[in-house]
Amino acid sequence: MDIVTTIADTRANCRGARRAGKQIGLVPTMGALHEGHLSLVRLAKAKSDFVVVSLFVNPLQFGPTEDLAKYPRTFERDLELLNREGVDLLFAPAVSEMYPTLSVTYVNVENLSDRLDGQSRPGHFRGVTTVVSKLFHILEPDIAVFGQKDAAQVAIIRRMVRDLNIPVEIVVGPIVREVDGLAMSSRNAYLDPQQRKQALVLSRSLARVQELFNRGERSTTKLIAVGKSVFAEEPAARIDYFSIVNPESLEPVEEIHGEILVAVAAYVGTTRLIDNLLLKS
Ligand code: PAJ
Repeated sequence: MDIVTTIADTRANCRGARRAGKQIGLVPTMGALHEGHLSLVRLAKAKSDFVVVSLFVNPLQFGPTEDLAKYPRTFERDLELLNREGVDLLFAPAVSEMYPTLSVTYVNVENLSDRLDGQSRPGHFRGVTTVVSKLFHILEPDIAVFGQKDAAQVAIIRRMVRDLNIPVEIVVGPIVREVDGLAMSSRNAYLDPQQRKQALVLSRSLARVQELFNRGERSTTKLIAVGKSVFAEEPAARIDYFSIVNPESLEPVEEIHGEILVAVAAYVGTTRLIDNLLLKS
């Protein structure tokens, strides 16, 4: 695996691969890699012939009181994992390489960026779409792979690609979970053993909604009430949102037709966790 830190070297590498007739597959990450990330790498490998992983803890998507400084950084281990997966290129730029001067240009997907996580994390999705569009311009991938774990991020990136005619195919991989159901996340590292157990309330609440849905319940009000009631059994967790939305527009759904997204965000201690479930009627 080649490791590059400059935009110029990355462009040169990707041009070389493209000239050799290879399809480029990109997996953007912020590192602290786990099986969720690696599942996306495998998906990229199956769907392209030159796999690039980007590893960049993007300051632009963290709010002033968020966890940028303490975000887990495990570079040596990440390298080992990516080498083992047979990744072709790792793009790991410094902040000064991605944002050399004070940037004044942003990409913002209006309305969608204010929904779900965007509501409690103002500016977060603007940071995501700005950095992802920079990565798309630097690497010019044929496909880019994202995780369903961040369902709002997927909807927003798909919309950006559509609105800006970016020639990339967005591929989405399913949520990878720990054996007990907790969705894998780099932020799970913040949880102490007790909080780790309390965090199961997210996946448990979604499982309860799934059960009720399978039994035929189609009232979103009732489904949300049941999901929230599971949180009442775990007072250590504080709900940020528990919503049922259209998976493309992220707008609340009143009547269920076709596919819907049940999305939850909650704090366990000071750690903010998210999880979601796609349901088809
Ligand atoms: P990060 O949180 O590192 O996640 C990188 C990718 O891994 C995202 O597409 C995310 O949805 C996916 N992912 C995380 N946990 C997963 C799980 N349990 N199962 C499946 N996929 C999972 O998301 C970001 O970084 C950033 O916002 C980024 C897109 C890199 C822009 O900075």
